[in-house]
Amino acid sequence: MDGKARVAVLVSGGGTNLQALIDAQRSGLIEKGEIVLVISNRESAFAIERAKKAGIETCVVTRKACGGQEGFEAKVMELIDSHDIDLVVLAGFLTILSAAFVRHYEHRIINIHPSLIPAFCGDGFYGIIPHQAALERGVKVTGATVHYVNEVADGGEIIAQKAVSVEDDDTPETLQRRVMEQAEWLILPVAVAKICRRIVKERS
Ligand code: GRF
Repeated sequence: MDGKARVAVLVSGGGTNLQALIDAQRSGLIEKGEIVLVISNRESAFAIERAKKAGIETCVVTRKACGGQEGFEAKVMELIDSHDIDLVVLAGFLTILSAAFVRHYEHRIINIHPSLIPAFCGDGFYGIIPHQAALERGVKVTGATVHYVNEVADGGEIIAQKAVSVEDDDTPETLQRRVMEQAEWLILPVAVAKICRRIVKERS
């Protein structure tokens, strides 16, 4: 335990946000936290490769293998609890978690969302979609938000946000990349570092 908060990261895709967390841990930014487990709901997620390369324990948990949502969540909860996890980070995790699951880990799950909540968020707004919606609406500024996860999709307490300009020639893809580079990959590690410090302080 060596006095650090134990962090589990849940992923589904490329894992660039996970990579930002791994890099921040290496650089000492996340001084009071340690990523000890990465869980993916997709076998093919490149995030798993990133975790393995960093020497972090990984586990793939699929609804199919667990016989449905209930079994899936039970397995994820078992992994979280057996690893004494203090903080769960959803980083590009594209599976809805039930209200029961979220309540069980109240104020211990955070998520990175690719917009300035309350804009372009909630059911159906994930991945590239928030960026498509931002361009369709014609906003000049968008960004990313780190928030606690509660029963309402993207409805939890906001922890951090960072604004990013929208350029006239942006496509959803170029905008997504800029939001990731200039917002997500910066505010998520800082938020995790801050929360881990609080957890360790409260424990001492
Ligand atoms: C990104 O669009 C991010 O905003 C969202 O999930 C997508 C993939 O992230 N949270 P990652 O590269 O798997 O971290």
